[in-house]
Amino acid sequence: MARLKIKEILKNGETGSEVVAKGWVRTKRGSKNVNFIALNDGSTIHNLQVVVDVESFDEALLRDITTGAAIAVTGELVESAGSGQNVELNAKSIDLLGKADPEKYPIQPKKHSLEFLRENAHLRFRTNTFSAVFRIRHAMAFAIHKYFNEKGFNYLHTPIVTASDAEGAGQMFRVSTLDAKNPPLTEEGEVDYSQDFFGKATNLTVSGQLEGELGALALGEIYTFGPTFRAENSNTTRHLAEFWMIEPEMAFYDLKDNMDLAEEFLKYCIQYALDNCMDDLQFLAQRLKEEEKNKPQDQRSMDLIEKLEFVLKNDFIRLPYTEAIDILKNSKPYKKKKFQFPVDWGVDLQSEHERYLVEKHFKCPVILIDYPKDIKAFYMKQNDDGKTVGAMDVLFPGIGEIIGGSQREEDLEKLTKRMEEMDIPTEEMWWYLDTRRFGSVVHSGFGLGFERLMLFVTGMGNIRDVIAFPRAPKNAEF
Ligand code: 4AD
Ligand code: MG
Repeated sequence: MARLKIKEILKNGETGSEVVAKGWVRTKRGSKNVNFIALNDGSTIHNLQVVVDVESFDEALLRDITTGAAIAVTGELVESAGSGQNVELNAKSIDLLGKADPEKYPIQPKKHSLEFLRENAHLRFRTNTFSAVFRIRHAMAFAIHKYFNEKGFNYLHTPIVTASDAEGAGQMFRVSTLDAKNPPLTEEGEVDYSQDFFGKATNLTVSGQLEGELGALALGEIYTFGPTFRAENSNTTRHLAEFWMIEPEMAFYDLKDNMDLAEEFLKYCIQYALDNCMDDLQFLAQRLKEEEKNKPQDQRSMDLIEKLEFVLKNDFIRLPYTEAIDILKNSKPYKKKKFQFPVDWGVDLQSEHERYLVEKHFKCPVILIDYPKDIKAFYMKQNDDGKTVGAMDVLFPGIGEIIGGSQREEDLEKLTKRMEEMDIPTEEMWWYLDTRRFGSVVHSGFGLGFERLMLFVTGMGNIRDVIAFPRAPKNAEF
C-alpha cells in the first residue's frame, strides 16, 4: 500500500479506508490500554492522531515509540472523537523506522526558547513554529517566481563570484585561493591578486543588480533571486551576512513605474500567503499572541492575519525624503529628544526614524523617494535639483526597510562623473558603462530582502529564525 501524506489524509481521508502514514512522533500519551500518538510528517502543521490498542502490540516496540522517533503506521481511518480533525488512524501495524533516544533527543514536547532552537537549527524544522516558517518560505519563493513569470520577466542568474562591488560600500567577502599565510606580493608589498585563481581580486556578490541591468537592457524585464553576501558587522535582528535577494530590473521604467511594481509585487506575495498558507499563518498568529501576552496592551503587535490584510487594503504612502525630515523634526520623539540618532537633511535615516514614520505617523507602508545623493549608490538617477537622486526605499511596519531601489542614471557623462567623484573605478566597469554607450534607455529596479519579507509575513521577530542556517558575525554553524 502506498503511503499517504498526513495533509492528504486529514483533508480527504475516508473513514473505513486503510492507509499507511509515515512521520515523526511528536508526543505519545495514554493509559494502560490505549496509547495516542501525535504523528507529523511535515506536510501540514496538523498532526495525525494514531490510536494504539496496547494489548495488540509488542511492549518493547511501544517503549521505543518516543518523541522524535520515526514510524510507519498501517491502519484504518475512523471518525475522530477529539475535536480539530475529522479522522484518526486505528493502528493495525507499526514499523519503527528510526529510534530517538529520549535521554538525548533535544526537541522534547515542551516550550523551547527560540535561542535554544537556533543552537539546534538542524532539528528545529521538527517544531510547529519552524515547520510553519519553512513551509511559508517555500510558498513565498514560489509566489515570487509565479508573479514575475506571469508578468513576462526573465529569471536571470547573475554571478555569485564577482570582481565588482555593486553597492560601492566595500562590505565584501574576499574569494581567493592564495595561501593566506604566504601570499605572493607585488613590488609595493601588497597581495598580488594577478596570481590568484581568477587573475584579479574577487569577492562574493553583494547584489546582482549591475549584471541585472545588462540583462534588462536587452531582454526588457529580468529578475534575479539568489544569495547575496555582506560582510557588515551588524549584529541585529534584521541583518544577515548571507541573505536572499530578489532584484527585478526593467527597461523603460521610471521611478513611478518602479514604485507601482514594488507595491503590486509585495501585495501579490502577501495575498499568496493568505490564499495558500492559512493553517500555518493561524498557528503563527497564535504563537505571536502567546509570546506577547505579558506585554502591556499598547506594545502588542496587531494580529498577524489582520496586519497582512491591512497592507493589502491600503495604498502605500509615497513621500520625498525632504518631507520625511520635516515630519520627523516636528515629531514628539524628536522634540523630546527620544531619537538616538540625529535628524538632519543629508543624514541617512535610522531604523528608529523609519519606524516612527511607518508605525506612528502614517500607520501604513511608506515609500520614501528622492534621497540626498551623498547617502546613496553611484548608479542612481541624478535629479535636476543637483542634490537628490531618484531612489526609493519601501518601509514596512515592524521591519523598516524591506526594499531598496531606484531609477538608474542612463546618461553616460553624468554617470561617469559621479563614479569618479565616488572613487568607483570606471575602467574596470567598462562593461557596465557600455550599456550607456550603446542604446541607453531609462530603466529602474529594486531589491527585496527575502528574509525581511519573511519576517513580515510570519511575524517572527529575528531574521535568524526565517532562514534555515543563518550566517551572521561569529556564526557559521551547520
Ligand atoms: O538597499 P540594498 O543594499 O540595495 C541593493 O543592494 C540594490 N542593488 C538593490 C537594487 O536596486 N537592485 O538592499 C536591498 C534590500 C534591502 O532593502 C533589505 O531588504 C535587504 O536587501 N538587505 C538585507 N537583508 C538582510 N541582511 C542584510 N545584511 C541586508 N542588507 C540588505
Ligand atoms: Mg538600502
